[in-house]
Amino acid sequence: MAKSNLKLKEQKKKNNLKVVDDREIKTTAYSDINLKKWKEYDHVKTDTLWEFPARLKEGGHSNEYHGNYIPQIAQQIYERYTKKGDIVLDLFFGSGTSGIEAVNMERRCIGVELKDELAESVSQKFSPKQLVTDVNIICADSASEAAKEKIKARLDVMGRKEAQLLMLHPPYDDIIKFSDKKEDLSNCATTEEFYNLFEKVAKNGYDLLEKRRFACLIIGDSYKNSEVQPLGFMCMAKMMNLGFKLKGIIVKDIQGNERAKGKTANLWRYRALAGGFYIFKHEYVMVFQKA
Ligand SMILES: C[S@@+](CC[C@H](N)C(=O)[O-])C[C@H]1O[C@@H](n2cnc3c(N)ncnc32)[C@H](O)[C@@H]1O
Repeated sequence: MAKSNLKLKEQKKKNNLKVVDDREIKTTAYSDINLKKWKEYDHVKTDTLWEFPARLKEGGHSNEYHGNYIPQIAQQIYERYTKKGDIVLDLFFGSGTSGIEAVNMERRCIGVELKDELAESVSQKFSPKQLVTDVNIICADSASEAAKEKIKARLDVMGRKEAQLLMLHPPYDDIIKFSDKKEDLSNCATTEEFYNLFEKVAKNGYDLLEKRRFACLIIGDSYKNSEVQPLGFMCMAKMMNLGFKLKGIIVKDIQGNERAKGKTANLWRYRALAGGFYIFKHEYVMVFQKA
């Protein structure tokens, strides 16, 4: 084999590229994006500043749950980091955005949510058939060993040993209080406790994710005791300590999907000027890969 061919082969192996027999198709091992036709993927983002004019409301999504993420994030992440039929594991399922988009994009999903009434009501968004074949909803504390065992059992039923993508959209500390449960990350006595609980959930996610697959963390910062709490960077550090490689820090404009901020905008501007701080207009979408 010519030296240049050998070098190319090694490079492909390093980049986790898989060349499918068909000369017209070339994909990575973790996505269906056809690299031979890469110019046809204009809609897929590869830069670190994300601005969406408004939250997508079509395709089964609604905005009834305070604290849900916008479906466009799932669309972007699923297309780049999953293949059809892959299983997305979401350990903070909430109103099920990850599950709805998994169905829309012919992926599958296991979602874990702490609040039983929410887990129950989210199930209504899916047909009985979908709840058997495509979306599995578990009501549990994602930091627990019990949740891990339940997820393994569901993976087994779905014919996989591990998940192919991990989605983490935790509470942003106590900015929105989701419940009074002691296991709830939005109900921690201190931000330090929040970080520790987050790490436990992320560790479960790491263990349940297939090697060389990706994880996505969606998070914003908070302002407490007259200082910024850098929740994004602190949770990012926890992920990296677990062994995840950092692949991207995306800054996402949240102005299109903030609720009812208009009325209080002047008040916040006054407070910012008086208190020496800045008003958050962004959150993070961070991408990691398991080694
Ligand atoms: C930011 S919301 C997620 C919203 C979701 N991504 C969506 O689009 O609807 C965080 C969710 O995590 C849940 N939660 C908090 N602590 C949890 C825990 N220990 N285990 C599982 N879920 C938890 C909360 O009840 C809340 O629904």
